[in-house]
Amino acid sequence: MTQKLWGGAFKEKVSPVVEDFTASIAFDRRLAGYDIEGSIAHVMMLARCRIISLREKNLIIKGLKEIAGEIKSGKFRFKAADEDIHLSVEKRLHRKIGEPAGKLHTARSRNDQVALDLRLFLRDEIGNILKLTKNMQKCIVDLAEQNIKVVMPGFTHLQHAQPVLFSHHILTYYYMLQRDVERLKDCMKRVDCLPLGAGAFAGTTLPIDRMFLAKQLGFSNVCEHSIDAVSDRDFAAEFLFCGALLMMHLSRLSEELIMWASPEFGFIEIGDSVLTGSSMMPQKKNPDVPELIRGKCGRAYGNLVNTLTMMKGLPLSYNRDMQEDKESLFDTVDTLKKALGVYPVFLRAVRLNADRLNSLAGEGFTVATDLAEHLVAKGVSFREAHERVGKLVRFCMENRKSFEDLGKEDFRSFGFGQEVVKLVSAAGSVKRKKSLGGTSPGEVRRMLRKARKTLYA
Ligand code: ARG
Repeated sequence: MTQKLWGGAFKEKVSPVVEDFTASIAFDRRLAGYDIEGSIAHVMMLARCRIISLREKNLIIKGLKEIAGEIKSGKFRFKAADEDIHLSVEKRLHRKIGEPAGKLHTARSRNDQVALDLRLFLRDEIGNILKLTKNMQKCIVDLAEQNIKVVMPGFTHLQHAQPVLFSHHILTYYYMLQRDVERLKDCMKRVDCLPLGAGAFAGTTLPIDRMFLAKQLGFSNVCEHSIDAVSDRDFAAEFLFCGALLMMHLSRLSEELIMWASPEFGFIEIGDSVLTGSSMMPQKKNPDVPELIRGKCGRAYGNLVNTLTMMKGLPLSYNRDMQEDKESLFDTVDTLKKALGVYPVFLRAVRLNADRLNSLAGEGFTVATDLAEHLVAKGVSFREAHERVGKLVRFCMENRKSFEDLGKEDFRSFGFGQEVVKLVSAAGSVKRKKSLGGTSPGEVRRMLRKARKTLYA
């Protein structure tokens, strides 16, 4: 056997700088388990199709299983000269069992092999990420349920806009994550497709059985077109987009929590166990967890753009550029798992300053829209009502009063009936927002029940 498993046609030894530059073993060793799983299925298929003998199959599988053990226990030595995980495993197999190892790569290329490894990896990791996302959603629903009575100012343009239930506000993040869950499940459909058996890209003259491989490896579908099977990284880009969006959602929540914890907002208190200190300023307690999650969102975007850009100019079929797909994928998987792993711990340490939220809910004329709608209900056109309430707001601003400071007389002089006095509380405003999906306790409770049902189904 030549030094390189592909060295037959080579007259010269490959330069060590080139060897080092082209190697992916430093990162694709992470795929070892999947690579071996794929190889075992492959030799089972080869034996079944009588392309190799039963004896050869058994020898190879025994060897591969031993190698899996060596990798698991940390005994396996990864070398840059062995290029990537696929060749490392195969080389080790040669050293272990000799001649029969030469049959492992029959009717297979690293092109279909690496596509398979990636899909097996993603299939597992999407499952893990789904579980973690659901756990995060449960925490959000718990927080919403525990604080169902708290009213807060809702914002647009970061200005007090209308009162809402805190539960209603926070439940938004459940809905965002629910779309992430659905997107990931949908992405799984494209991941769940077997590329093995495409060979380098054109198929093979040998009588292989791809359906058997799919069944053996638990794939629901086969990547039918052999050129597409090895050229396609859509499933990776799609996953990276799902991950980028999920991180964006976590980042928005982080931004809110960071603001809310500032003394200027004072909406929440956070337990010491999830805060960090300053090396210089003794009084500081910093919300580093949400800040890091907000910061790490950038990596997820970067990984997506990296992969899309890496793919955009590639002619068919496989090109070595595609080796660059792995680190982005691993990084997004790791980032998501870390962020989703720590977030529930952080959220459980959040306590609301309910009194402050309740009292701020009505500040800044947040019930102005309700007053206008009250006029509308009495037959005034919305534009006219808007104008009248606007004038009332201006009067209050000029006289440094809130709606609650106004008496029946004040209201009457602006053409409002005396009943509006009862409309100016934030808690009352919330109760009247009964439209579907609105902030009334009835609607929020309904949405909470639905969320629970979905999460605990
Ligand atoms: N290490 C390579 C990768 O990650 C494996 C496939 C190599 N294929 C090839 N034709 N050189 O993409």
